Amino acid sequence: MKNKMVIVGGQPLYGSVRISGAKNAGLVLIAASIMAEGETILDNVPRICDVEVMIEILNSMGVKSGWNEDGSLSIRPPAGDMGIKTPDEMAKKLRASNLFLGALLGRQGEAAVSMPGGCDIGSRPMDLHLKGAQALGAEVEIEHGYIYARTKAPAGSRVYLDFPSVGATENIMMMASKTPGQTIIENAAKEPEIVDLANFLNSMGGKVRGAGTDIIKIEGVPVLKAVHYGIIPDRIEAGTYMIAAAITGGEIQVENIIPTHLHPIIAKLQETGAIISETEQGLLVKAGERILPADIKTMPYPGFPTDMQSQMIALLSLAEGTSVVVENVFENRFQIIDEFIRMGAKIKLEGRSAIVEGTPHLFGARVKATDLRAGAALVLSALAASGTTIIDDAIHIFRGYESIEEKLRSLGAIIK
Ligand code: UD1
Repeated sequence: MKNKMVIVGGQPLYGSVRISGAKNAGLVLIAASIMAEGETILDNVPRICDVEVMIEILNSMGVKSGWNEDGSLSIRPPAGDMGIKTPDEMAKKLRASNLFLGALLGRQGEAAVSMPGGCDIGSRPMDLHLKGAQALGAEVEIEHGYIYARTKAPAGSRVYLDFPSVGATENIMMMASKTPGQTIIENAAKEPEIVDLANFLNSMGGKVRGAGTDIIKIEGVPVLKAVHYGIIPDRIEAGTYMIAAAITGGEIQVENIIPTHLHPIIAKLQETGAIISETEQGLLVKAGERILPADIKTMPYPGFPTDMQSQMIALLSLAEGTSVVVENVFENRFQIIDEFIRMGAKIKLEGRSAIVEGTPHLFGARVKATDLRAGAALVLSALAASGTTIIDDAIHIFRGYESIEEKLRSLGAIIK
């Protein structure tokens, strides 16, 4: 499989780019589909490696799923019981495989989910997911790297999350949708992907209220019926192309987006001097005369997304002045800093903060993608740098960005 990207930098990018469906909505909706009776059809699912792994996991558990000619994804679980175990080697590649915990418990009261892998961006415990499952009546054991969970008398309950974890909120929403009685999630995650999951469950006959606020109430229903549903656009992919305009001195229109989902990103990009306007098709982003420094703190939604932190550092490394970026969600997200420094960036780490002293130029270098978003950030630095950058381990980038090479080339990037 292709694992390298070679970028010749220095070209301002111009044009329009169509944003794909949201990776994080696609992954959870695929898991949730196993709870429905009949064939679910999902539109706008991005064709990325993470989704392909999710489909492999489905098929290994006895679900029939695959792409249709019109680009939609069909998911048809068996009428009777299906496999309850996510295969270890696939699940290790993809943290989102943990979303089968809530979906399987909701569907048939039993799940064996591999302790997940995915991006190496920090400790990613499962305690809140398990707390939720247990509150709704599951007995949980962890053995040989697997979480085994089974419900005997499932019943709705109140669950307080110590941190508004996206995955834990989603697992509880799925399980609760088929658990008798009312479940209340307090301090729930408020990300747009949570709202998309609630809309999806409700379209299937579920009863979820309050998604998008920090209290979500779910009434369990006995049956969920398969539907045809289109997932929301990817706000992180959109944000990445918006920075591509700002960092290369170009002008890019991002199309097929929901502007309100992008407010935290728009606000910070404007602080750095980018000029952003709403158009009929989406958002037009024009680089400012100069890149200005900005301070950033990552937070759960509607705060600034941790998934945009690395890309923002790429931009700030070329600002006229010093920025402070604080990472509050995943502690290892700064692993990429050494790669930026290889390209000429001036960045110092102090605990959870990166002090980014802007420099006028970056230079092409041989660098390595350490995780998905870090890889995207290296692409951005490479587009702005003089000379050629070789990005190794680019597989991380393909995990989350649909047709990234084609999209960048259509905007004028030179990618070999
Ligand atoms: C999801 C997104 C990921 C994004 C992240 C934060 C998907 C597939 N992935 O990941 O792109 O970066 O949200 O917006 O949707 N935590 C615990 N205990 C738990 C669960 C989480 O302490 O049981 C902590 C984590 O260590 C982390 C924080 O909560 O510090 C946020 O994690 P969480 O929101 O759960 O992220 P994911 O759902 O894994």
